[in-house]
Amino acid sequence: MQAHKTFNMNIIESLQWRYATKKFDSTKKLSKEQLQVIKEAFNLTATSYGLQALSLVIVENQNLREQLVPHAFNQRQVADASHLLVLCYPDHFDGKDVANYFDRIVSERKTPEETIKPFRDFLINDFDSKSTKDKHASFAKQTYIALGNLLTVCALEKIDSCPMEGFVPSKVDEVLDLASKNLKSALLLPVGFRAEDDFMAKEKKVRKPLSEIIIEI
Ligand SMILES: Cc1cc2nc3c(=O)[nH]c(=O)nc-3n(C[C@H](O)[C@H](O)[C@H](O)COP(=O)(O)O)c2cc1C
Repeated sequence: MQAHKTFNMNIIESLQWRYATKKFDSTKKLSKEQLQVIKEAFNLTATSYGLQALSLVIVENQNLREQLVPHAFNQRQVADASHLLVLCYPDHFDGKDVANYFDRIVSERKTPEETIKPFRDFLINDFDSKSTKDKHASFAKQTYIALGNLLTVCALEKIDSCPMEGFVPSKVDEVLDLASKNLKSALLLPVGFRAEDDFMAKEKKVRKPLSEIIIEI
């Protein structure tokens, strides 16, 4: 009998390979296929109730990305990466959006209306009564799940990336006119390929020993 494989070495190797890229090679672009993997992976992210109250804005436009650099504390990754991913959540979202979600379930799974009705009514009411502030806080959390998902997917695809919270969301929203799309920015994720002289690529990955971060009870 073959020895039981306890973990997939490729995944661990890929996660060791990835790092928060500080300098991208601005001459290297992601292929259409690589972008497609990112789009599909984003769409497959798990979300609370499955509502998918989040959007991915993909910015390639160089002029716009240069305008964003000062609003990201001059972090050049925003402009030098192949593409800038902006993880967003909806500004306005209410019971009507929840109803649309259930309509899709009914149409795609052929679930009988009466089966879905109690949960549908509960969730519509829940979203109609929640404050905008609470909804925004909850949606912003969902974008972090998508970020984690994309970081892993990019690592497996040998796409470099840099998760970024270091920016002024209101300014990014303004430059990208996100209000016209009913969106607010939560996170940035420049994606592309590391520059050969990115000093960070050669730095040792620093993590706690497992014995310090894992508690087995
Ligand atoms: C939510 C989040 C926000 C981050 N914001 C920034 C940022 O604005 N700029 C940056 O260079 N790195 C940023 N990082 C990268 C972290 O500093 C980096 O992931 C951490 O030091 C571990 O290093 P590694 O990812 O290279 O293994 C961020 C990471 C996360 C998860």
